[in-house]
Amino acid sequence: MANRYKSDLSWSDVTPAEVFFNRRKFMTGAAALAAGGIAGPAFAAASKFSTDEEPNKWDEITNYNNFYEFGTGKTDPSEYAGALTTSPWKIEIEGMVDKPGSYSYEDIMANMTVEERIYRFRCVEAWSMIIPWNGFELADLLNMVGVQDGAKYVAFETLVRPEEMWGQKRNFIPWPYREGLRLDEAMHPLTMMATGIYGKDIPNQNGAPMRLVVPWKYGFKSIKSIVKIRLTDEQPETSWNMINAPEYGFYSNVNPDVDHPRWSQASERRVGGGLLAKRIPTLKFNGYEEEVAGLYEGMDLAKFF
Ligand code: MTE
Repeated sequence: MANRYKSDLSWSDVTPAEVFFNRRKFMTGAAALAAGGIAGPAFAAASKFSTDEEPNKWDEITNYNNFYEFGTGKTDPSEYAGALTTSPWKIEIEGMVDKPGSYSYEDIMANMTVEERIYRFRCVEAWSMIIPWNGFELADLLNMVGVQDGAKYVAFETLVRPEEMWGQKRNFIPWPYREGLRLDEAMHPLTMMATGIYGKDIPNQNGAPMRLVVPWKYGFKSIKSIVKIRLTDEQPETSWNMINAPEYGFYSNVNPDVDHPRWSQASERRVGGGLLAKRIPTLKFNGYEEEVAGLYEGMDLAKFF
């Protein structure tokens, strides 16, 4: 049986050469060496958390999106997100931290180790993809700013800039888009801040310049284009829960046994599979059960959905 967790695949194996050599922030010392002629996997050993399933194509990952700040259609983000200015970019880190402040994208990246993670991605709408992200563990950023005793949750916000994000001129979501994690979820090694896909800077429609990726939760938890991170002792408000609490819980762990009130979550449609492709079974915690089930020991997952 294919090992769902470990893989020898790296983005150099799945990426066309022109993309492979166009990456920017990924250039560590070893990567720089490789660009000078030493090929592939030696410098980009895939994470032990990577799946060996075949990644979706760049065009699929960047043309079928949810980013309501740019409209509600799946192709709206790729059409309109180019209007977003992503440089300069600052992230306010505040609340129960030792070093609160306004951190530039560059301040953060200078202190982080970027690696590739090929993760399953499962939207609450029951479509899914396999995405080769580049990014760093959120825990590294939280440790950089120093989480204080007593902090229990991490709250995130996307920017509000209606002049560049036309969807924000309509109020069907109370902007800013908000998300949150329990601190132990945020510190889990699977939880990452993504800054790239296929070794290229992350495109605007996928949440440039930095977005959360929590692979065992429904995709809406993976908030895009983050400008604020707050450590708190109270469970933060989250957008979809504010809009419709009976349908979208705070936890939103992928769970084939707990249906959405309006549709089954037992199976999913892999984007790019074609119209006749069979749906595939959805895995508990999106296939990351071994790694994360312990976080929820003793909790009723139907109640804390
Ligand atoms: N983040 C913001 N700021 N705005 C959004 O509308 N949509 C969410 C999530 N993050 C969303 C967001 C939803 S519903 C999903 S499924 C994923 O982003 C989609 O990520 P992708 O477009 O990169 O596949």
